[in-house]
Amino acid sequence: MSQVHLIDHPMIQHKLTIMRDKNTGSKDFRQLLEEISLLMGYEVTRDLPLEDVEIETPICPMVAKEVKGRKLAIVPILRAGLGMVDGLRTLVPVAKVGHIGLYRNEETHKPVVYYCKLPADIENRLVIVTDPMLATGGSACDAIAMLKERGCNNIRLMCLVAAPVGIEKVQAEHPDVDIYVAAIDKCLNENAYIVPGLGDAGDRIFGTK
Ligand code: PRP
Ligand code: URA
Repeated sequence: MSQVHLIDHPMIQHKLTIMRDKNTGSKDFRQLLEEISLLMGYEVTRDLPLEDVEIETPICPMVAKEVKGRKLAIVPILRAGLGMVDGLRTLVPVAKVGHIGLYRNEETHKPVVYYCKLPADIENRLVIVTDPMLATGGSACDAIAMLKERGCNNIRLMCLVAAPVGIEKVQAEHPDVDIYVAAIDKCLNENAYIVPGLGDAGDRIFGTK
């Protein structure tokens, strides 16, 4: 069974509260999402293996540490997942970025695929899938399945706000994928929006409503 990592550092909770507020505008919403993504990225990458490397400081030679082995890819689920990429890339500037385009059908709430462009060597990378909202879990599950079809076997899911039902679905369909979230909310409403949530993340990031 995959693990759920609740990253509820006080600074993340504080920033998330501002994002949830309906009076927070698009510019601040985007900025805060980027800041939280960087802070969450710190925990998502906490267990990356290190190796020794010989360098010289201006004073003397030394054996220092650098991140070893598997390289990283960030894969945002369009559109809202895009808002988490820059924060993560500040932390890991060499990460490659793939894109998976999915939108939820407004009536069925089921995801519809419209785009997929991934780094050529994605199967050799640790993949961090980003999407601020994990509601029914349909979008995340389909995106992860698309990555697995392309040979990825080391995937982590980084979200901002999750509903319990979405977490359960990802754990049931992808028990090998750890989930990182800043908050687990109460439930979904009749339109499959997270309650209390923060509304439509894509619309708030891009100012489309
Ligand atoms: C939102 C969100 C997730 C999805 C979550 O995207 O960004 O991708 O819904 O819902 P689920 O867990 O029930 O699948 P949306 O379909 O609104 O597309 P957008 O990001 O382009 O606005
Ligand atoms: N997508 C969103 O943007 N918000 C929700 O609450 C659910 C799905």
